Amino acid sequence: MEVILTEDYNEMSKISAGEIARQVRKKPNSVIGLATGSTPLGTYKELIRLHKEEGLDFSKVITFNLDEYLGLPPAHKESYNFFMWENLFKHININPENVHVPQGMVEDAEEFCEWYEKEIEKAGGIDLQLLGIGSDGHIAFNEPGSSFGSRTRVKTLEEQTIEDNSRFFNSIDEVPHFAITMGVGTILEARKIVLAANGKNKAQVCARFIEGPIDSQITASALQLHPHAVIVLDEAASSQLKRKKYYNWIRDNKHMVKKYLGR
Ligand code: PGA
Repeated sequence: MEVILTEDYNEMSKISAGEIARQVRKKPNSVIGLATGSTPLGTYKELIRLHKEEGLDFSKVITFNLDEYLGLPPAHKESYNFFMWENLFKHININPENVHVPQGMVEDAEEFCEWYEKEIEKAGGIDLQLLGIGSDGHIAFNEPGSSFGSRTRVKTLEEQTIEDNSRFFNSIDEVPHFAITMGVGTILEARKIVLAANGKNKAQVCARFIEGPIDSQITASALQLHPHAVIVLDEAASSQLKRKKYYNWIRDNKHMVKKYLGR
């Protein structure tokens, strides 16, 4: 894993957006996996800026979102469909036909999950997957104990996740208990992964998934198995890492890294 330590949320967002922009410039019809939550908001703002000010072209990009609450219609203001249109899609030149967000109101969720997996495959697989991390270590809604081989499916949300996400709802009773989520196995098949995390409440879990053992109780630790995972942290989220000196040395000696590793 490449661990990039940044000063603050702004720099974290710029670096995460920069990774996506580089991928889209290199391959205009890239398949990009997207995430929701507070973490990627700055990344999306920067992508919108890059589109408006620097002409970053999304017209051929195909997107797949990680997850959606079951039981919320796409127009519900706390649905992830709504979030994505409000915070990214409506501000860039993406073709709506190329956008995929799991549907929260499907009749047959199992059938939908199989269809979603097939659509990812038909698109040629995900080139770059953006991730956040839950305070319980989840990626997408893969709660502790999710199999590292899991595929898109219905998942029951942890109490901690329901509590964390209740800040977006009028009351905790309104937070859905189920979601459709890409599996850990689905995520690990992306060719590149960028996980961003910020804030003190993510410090402990970041130290565990980056420097602790691979553990299905912290599903983000599955990224240790991925050959191209980039972890971008703000200062608060990196505060409990033990090997900060090493990560900082790499950042400060980019010219040498470039010479020997070619990037
Ligand atoms: P957050 O959520 O970005 O709102 O902290 C992250 C997550 O639960 O994956």
